[in-house]
Amino acid sequence: MFAIPLGDGAELRPLEPWQAEEFLAHMDRGRDYIGRYVGLPGITADLDSARAWLQAYADKTAADTGRLYGIRLEGRLVGGVLLRVFDTATGTCEAGCWLEPDAAGRGLVTRAVRVVIDWAIEARGMHRVEWLVAPENTASVNVARRLGMTREGLKHEDDPYRGVRQDTEIWSVLAPDWRAARASGVRDPAQLRPRSA
Ligand SMILES: CC(C)(COP(=O)(O)OP(=O)(O)OC[C@H]1O[C@@H](n2cnc3c(N)ncnc32)[C@H](O)[C@@H]1OP(=O)(O)O)[C@@H](O)C(=O)NCCC(=O)NCCS
Repeated sequence: MFAIPLGDGAELRPLEPWQAEEFLAHMDRGRDYIGRYVGLPGITADLDSARAWLQAYADKTAADTGRLYGIRLEGRLVGGVLLRVFDTATGTCEAGCWLEPDAAGRGLVTRAVRVVIDWAIEARGMHRVEWLVAPENTASVNVARRLGMTREGLKHEDDPYRGVRQDTEIWSVLAPDWRAARASGVRDPAQLRPRSA
């Protein structure tokens, strides 16, 4: 089983259907916190649905249409990073993330998503990585900023969540900007070639 060190005792590892019980226990620890803006807790409410969701990502991995990785802190599953969309035909993918509350505020997600974006761009030739987020989700907007993404716009009331239509901000980073930032040692591609928001 591979593990990519993220520093400070954290690692990025595969997250697979056989780990459904551990995943459910993790989700139970973070259900309220994670569910404020994203529907993941709702679709992984019990062991069967948790296993089905992990299996859906195992199927996406096999079909090369998505990816899912767990973030572990001192061995314990505390969050995850996913490529919800992974379209090799267009070179476009969409990244997402979550943490249980005790693991937030340490930079784990930003480091984990950097690993996944590096892989998507450098190993898989993706041109565009998107980040979709509710405008009120400041912590996630800040992750997009720290990754050097550019805010492209707002989809109005496109996301019916818990009975209310929510707006969605679209952020992205393009491969040339990601590479230029890495080559120059700058973490934030937007500092090199700002795109209009
Ligand atoms: C979105 C979410 C994952 C962000 O978590 P997070 O802990 O704020 O993000 P990171 O792991 O990148 O950590 C960054 C924070 O750690 C701090 N930090 C502490 N030590 C750090 C270090 N060594 N390196 C980097 N950052 C560090 C940063 O200052 C930052 O805090 P700040 O935003 O208050 O300044 C989390 O809020 C969450 O799970 N929300 C619910 C699910 C969700 O909304 N997912 C996103 C859907 S779009």
